[in-house]
Amino acid sequence: MFDFSLPADTPDEERYRELANAADALTGGEADDVANMANLAALIWSFVPDLNWAGFYRVVDAELVLGPFIGRPACIRIPLGQGVCGTAAATGKTQLVADVHAFPGHIACDSASESELVVPVIRDSKVVAVIDLDSPRKARFKEADARGLEALAARIATRI
Ligand code: SME
Repeated sequence: MFDFSLPADTPDEERYRELANAADALTGGEADDVANMANLAALIWSFVPDLNWAGFYRVVDAELVLGPFIGRPACIRIPLGQGVCGTAAATGKTQLVADVHAFPGHIACDSASESELVVPVIRDSKVVAVIDLDSPRKARFKEADARGLEALAARIATRI
């Protein structure tokens, strides 16, 4: 129904701008948070190359619980402060990890993952979820990916 693929040589800034615009358009008229997270995971998957996992963990009763995603089945619950996702949720800070094997406490859900980017989704000054991207390539994610995903998180914070 929707084809959002971009040419491979699209600059990161443009790629994430197009992603945020598509996300805004797709979630704007819908109040259901699960439907919106499902479409957002699929959108990220179409726009961001070299991923093996893309999706959400939600903060539920002081832990992270798996939300809609694309990729292999993943761990369902992650305590705040543990792993890359739990660290992003506990600190409210983006985690850009070039080599997941060097991150203390990294939780391996898919053995193909080599690098990871986790961005908190903040609403009313509270972390309500994280967006987690995994790549099978070491050092896949750069500052431009972090800034782009943070902009997306800000744009959709009230829609999930
Ligand atoms: N690697 C994450 C766990 C989630 S999976 O990558 C989908 C972490 O260390 O928090």
